[in-house]
Amino acid sequence: MNSAIDSAESLVTIDNWRPRQPSSNYVMQGLATKKALDTYHLILAPTHACNLRCRHCYLPDHAAQLLPEAVALRLVEEWSEVSLDERGAFGGIFHVKGGEPFVVPYLKKIMERLVELQSLRLMLTTNGTYTSAKVLESLRKCNDGLHGHVTVIVSLDGAFSATHDALRGAGQFEITVGFLRSLRAMNVQAHLNCVLHAGNVKEVPAYIGLAKDLGVDQINFLPLVPKGFGIELQSMQVPHLVLHRELQAVYETGDQATKKLLAGSLSHILDREETEHVTPAHECVAAYRGLFYITPEGNVYTCPNLVNTEHKIGTVYGASLRELCDSLPTLYANLRPQAGFDDRLICTGERVLYEKTGQTLSLQNLRSLQAKAGSPPTLKSESRKAVAFCVSRNF
Ligand SMILES: C[S@@+](CC[C@H](N)C(=O)[O-])C[C@H]1O[C@@H](n2cnc3c(N)ncnc32)[C@H](O)[C@@H]1O
Ligand code: SF4
Repeated sequence: MNSAIDSAESLVTIDNWRPRQPSSNYVMQGLATKKALDTYHLILAPTHACNLRCRHCYLPDHAAQLLPEAVALRLVEEWSEVSLDERGAFGGIFHVKGGEPFVVPYLKKIMERLVELQSLRLMLTTNGTYTSAKVLESLRKCNDGLHGHVTVIVSLDGAFSATHDALRGAGQFEITVGFLRSLRAMNVQAHLNCVLHAGNVKEVPAYIGLAKDLGVDQINFLPLVPKGFGIELQSMQVPHLVLHRELQAVYETGDQATKKLLAGSLSHILDREETEHVTPAHECVAAYRGLFYITPEGNVYTCPNLVNTEHKIGTVYGASLRELCDSLPTLYANLRPQAGFDDRLICTGERVLYEKTGQTLSLQNLRSLQAKAGSPPTLKSESRKAVAFCVSRNF
């Protein structure tokens, strides 16, 4: 039997890379030597329209503009071809977020086409407020048709109704928890997104208890990014290092089930490095091959956190997804940080945001997080094994 080190190396060596079956704990993960994600991931925001008006929402608006159905369905076909060629069956994810995916009139058609194709996994990020029998049945059918290759990420922003509802509106906590229980009953894999801020960070232990009760597979604790509507809550932002320390403490004292739920958090990544001798490059995965974020206007970026004009790769009207994939190395080269800092580890989207807005304190905090996690190895030393994680995980 291979040792942990052997198996870790065989997992990440570029030459023997093989598409992996989905793990229950999904992490945005890439092959740094190839500048490519190991599981391809296209994130489509077909609209910014939404039934809620969350106070922290990073979107710039809730406009009703909708990517035309024909374009969205063409993207399914194109992504299926690219992912099948480069990652094999179910080695790619078609991820619908928004806005709210369940307001998209053609969501069901996307799901049906994915079942016909049998090539891509489906991921949805939802506020979990569409709980009708019709919606639940469409999810159950798609999950069965894709043999369990469906992950629903549900946003739950607190362990209690007071904190969740403070951001998302009165009564929303109960509705969303009900939705999560329905997913559990249907055996659909569920993850939780929780945006952490000064008002809920102390609830992390209670939140983990709730996640266990709800039987979810993973929790993504996300830092509050002061963008869009969320600018108003900037004063609620918790310094990155403080957030990390809070999570680290919970991780260290937690049982195995807790650690498993936090897989993908920085604490877990650092723990794996120490205990399993894995040396991930944990470089920001922006501009990696196999990662796209597409807006209602059809603009293409490589990350939902990096949507500035200068980081636009193109539009879905001007190029195929394969052509857009081929244009990524240029963007990757341009994303490298300013002289004097090796910021490859930290989230490029956040770094650019703070540089643009002159928020030096937030930038310093981001860099102190990087210092805590350690400098990424040089490309030379990572040539044998190189796994990169999206530390911010704002997906
Ligand atoms: C923009 S929402 C779209 C999907 C869906 N409407 C929902 O709320 O889950 C995608 C994810 O981003 C998170 N998010 C929104 N605003 C954020 C912010 N300012 N900082 C970090 N994450 C944020 C949401 O909580 C959600 O988990
Ligand atoms: S975070 Fe999601 S549910 Fe809330 S307003 Fe934004 S898009 Fe809507």
